[in-house]
Amino acid sequence: MEIVVSGIRSTGNLHLGNYFGALRNFTRMQHKNKCFFFIADYHSLTTHPIPADLHGNVRHVLAEYLACGIDPGAATIYLQSDVPEVTELYLLLNMISYTGELERTTTFKDKVRNQPDNVNAGLLTYPVLMAADILIHKADKVPVGKDQQPHLEITRKLARRFNNMYKSECFPEPEAYNFGEKLVKIPGLDGSGKMGKSEGNAIYLADDEKTVRKKVMRAVTDSGPTGPGQEMTEPIRNLFTIMHFVSGPDTIQHFKDRYNDCTIRYGDLKKQLADDLVIFMKPIQGRINDILANEDYLARVASEGAERARESASATVREVRELIGFKPF
Ligand code: TYM
Repeated sequence: MEIVVSGIRSTGNLHLGNYFGALRNFTRMQHKNKCFFFIADYHSLTTHPIPADLHGNVRHVLAEYLACGIDPGAATIYLQSDVPEVTELYLLLNMISYTGELERTTTFKDKVRNQPDNVNAGLLTYPVLMAADILIHKADKVPVGKDQQPHLEITRKLARRFNNMYKSECFPEPEAYNFGEKLVKIPGLDGSGKMGKSEGNAIYLADDEKTVRKKVMRAVTDSGPTGPGQEMTEPIRNLFTIMHFVSGPDTIQHFKDRYNDCTIRYGDLKKQLADDLVIFMKPIQGRINDILANEDYLARVASEGAERARESASATVREVRELIGFKPF
């Protein structure tokens, strides 16, 4: 049985990118593997959330995980901050991480560009904390979207380095995973780039029908194909990419044909996409609201998950401490 670990930052509600990039893959693996899925609340601190918002965000994300089908009877669901062993492994891994390699990470460079007033050390060592999250359970597979690939490379490198340095086989080298297919990148609705919380281009699982329709109808397009079989521009390709995840193959083919014979009306395409998104999201939204209303259930899931996660995490930290040379008197 393989070990699977993944997580999502609790910086806001979940969007379609989180769902199709990570959550859906995870739910497909949870009954056949030993799975850990956590809420990365420490990671959310790099953007300094207001204390009054932190717990509410975590609570909402937990409800969303459950509503999306993560089964606490099969997988271990927990809050990162409930497992202090993660921070110990983070500290130990920081000692074998080099500032140069962290500074060169593309995600760090992006953050420096996007939040120049808040380039905190947590941002630089973000991939080390992520490696600790993954290695603490000795994961083999990490279901994530394409944007996380650079972080997985660092995790693999640190696992290798630790094993070499301490002459052990303590950590497997985990791989970013999507069932043998390419990692997923869900685009935003603004014509370019990926869907993201900070990009302001996302459809959230909790968005109501009116909001979804409004966002989709406002999505960037172009002035339409001018000749048969013309290559699609990025904004149009993006709409088809999202459609691929929520619409049936006949529907997609229909609109591709209309594109290729230049009779497509983007308004029709968007209306169809909005309809299919609403159908896809409705049952999830119903479950989110039911689960949010059940405070006891949420508390039970979090505390049982924390207990199981700590059991696994403390065994790893014990082994790591011994390998490094810490000994009790
Ligand atoms: P975060 O919170 O930004 O995103 C959570 C997951 O959603 C995926 N994702 C996407 N996938 C496809 N298309 C998109 N547009 C898109 N946007 C987000 C991400 O790839 C990710 O899988 N550092 C992580 C959280 C984390 C983590 C970990 C993940 C912390 N520790 C350990 C795995 C293992 C992050 O910020 O993800």
